[in-house]
Amino acid sequence: YRLFKFFLKHNHYLSHLKKLTMIPVECVIRNYAAGSLVRRLGVSEGQQLTPPTFELFLKNDALHDPMVNESLAVSFGWATAEQLAEMKRLTYKANEVLSALFDAAGMLLVDFKLEFGLFNGQIVLGDEFSPDGCRLWDKATRKKLDKDRFRQGLGGEAFRRLPQPDGGVALAGRVAAGAPIEALDRTGLWGRLLP
Ligand code: TMP
Repeated sequence: YRLFKFFLKHNHYLSHLKKLTMIPVECVIRNYAAGSLVRRLGVSEGQQLTPPTFELFLKNDALHDPMVNESLAVSFGWATAEQLAEMKRLTYKANEVLSALFDAAGMLLVDFKLEFGLFNGQIVLGDEFSPDGCRLWDKATRKKLDKDRFRQGLGGEAFRRLPQPDGGVALAGRVAAGAPIEALDRTGLWGRLLP
């Protein structure tokens, strides 16, 4: 009963979760060249990709998530061709929605990664979308507003102190991990995380 009361009191911290059987392949869309694409192909950073590109990476930390393709994914049984087609469709759809959201906040969604899983045999979005798994640049100045600030030693605020209902202070959690606060502030997403 005390646990139930705790959940009622703190329900703004709760999420409804579905357990998915995860597909071990990550979907990346790139609107502008950056990161591993620049290193792999030697293209200039910031070049706009028209149409946006779609890439697959195998989830394997020991191998540093190597790039794969649909043929490999089907042959090794990581996903069926139909499942991959649905993952690709949903990732492009997410790109439209998210690009518009960040554009309205003065930012370019450079690239991002999504993961999918199966729930009752259906492909659904899993894991998270957060500044942990995307690149964001200021639209006007192209200043980096994402984790690359820390990867490239550009400085910035990684965590914000949040006042807690009990009077204490906590550091912002996983949602903001590694992401400069400015990007979240601009979208208004940050405010929605506060109680
Ligand atoms: P990349 O340039 O390192 O290949 O990454 C492309 C985008 O996808 C970038 O926004 C980071 C994200 N990403 C992850 O968050 N985790 C991953 O394992 C991979 C491969 C990419």
